[in-house]
Amino acid sequence: MAKGYGHEPVMPEESCLWLDPRPGQTVIDMTTGLGGHSRLFGEAIGATGRLVCVDRDREALEAARENLLSLECGVDFIHSPFDRITGILASLDIKAVDRVFFDIGVSSLQLDKAERGFSFLRDGPLDMRMDRETGPNAADLVNSLPVEELADIFYRYGEERHSRRIAKRIGEAREISPINTTGELSAIIAGATSGRAGRNPATKVFQALRIAVNDELGMLSRGLAGAGKALAPGGRVAVLTFHSIEDRMVKRVFAGWAKRGLTKTLAGGVVEPTHAETLVNRRARSAKLRAAERIQEFSLRRGRHYARIHIGSASLDAYRLVHGP
Ligand SMILES: C[S@@+](CC[C@H](N)C(=O)[O-])C[C@H]1O[C@@H](n2cnc3c(N)ncnc32)[C@H](O)[C@@H]1O
Repeated sequence: MAKGYGHEPVMPEESCLWLDPRPGQTVIDMTTGLGGHSRLFGEAIGATGRLVCVDRDREALEAARENLLSLECGVDFIHSPFDRITGILASLDIKAVDRVFFDIGVSSLQLDKAERGFSFLRDGPLDMRMDRETGPNAADLVNSLPVEELADIFYRYGEERHSRRIAKRIGEAREISPINTTGELSAIIAGATSGRAGRNPATKVFQALRIAVNDELGMLSRGLAGAGKALAPGGRVAVLTFHSIEDRMVKRVFAGWAKRGLTKTLAGGVVEPTHAETLVNRRARSAKLRAAERIQEFSLRRGRHYARIHIGSASLDAYRLVHGP
């Protein structure tokens, strides 16, 4: 297990089963976090394998570097958003990868540290940036976006039913003084939704803001596209998501690839955590795992004609060659 922050990787067995990292392979972990999954993959690929650990959070990457010291495989730590996968691999002189893994969302390190501003349970600066070296933070958005735009964010990314009312209260509060802390924002949300039972009313708004601050949906879309291009024939990509919007995106992308004959979808679609895991790891409760495998090559037989063809633009030409136009 990764040291320091009590982080347990989510769906470890299922992730290893469907990613299926093997000795000597090159694996890229696009969301290294504290290295919980990376450790498992690194152990599976062994001394002859190569592991590329990417994270846009420098602090997480430093923790992972320490946690993964004992791995025997070659390990590169790359501080970058994962949508730059093409450039990352080029900089490492890697032409194609065998396995790509995403564990989308925030790490326990980010959630547990008040100063990162992700949690409504801990008072701290309203930050929420995974990469603290770049971009506007949550306070910038909350204090500067038009009220209608804030409401859209809360509704679209948080499915918050009271999005308009909460956004309006934020608009009124910031007229008096800027909202700079997680505590201030939580109090405004509580005031706008007072008396409602169930989970903390700040849950959905904080999730929505985090997704907006970090452009998480844009990142996932571009990251998946990059992963598809980076995969070696026979290579696999596995994605863990925790939000229905993200899961739908992964499902759609995999279906598109499969339709174009580029990959086959594994595990019959979606894999969910065991009930036992959800009891011991809260974060696992909303987890969904999907995996796809790039088709290695395929055979076309017609009479005495036989062709083994790599996928890509050559495949249609080769198909016509065998079957006629
Ligand atoms: C849920 S944690 C990963 C936990 C990890 N699998 C483990 O077992 O320790 C997600 C990590 O992905 C990183 N991350 C999220 N979006 C990213 C992106 N677009 N590019 C790079 N890293 C990203 C976050 O900073 C965070 O550290």
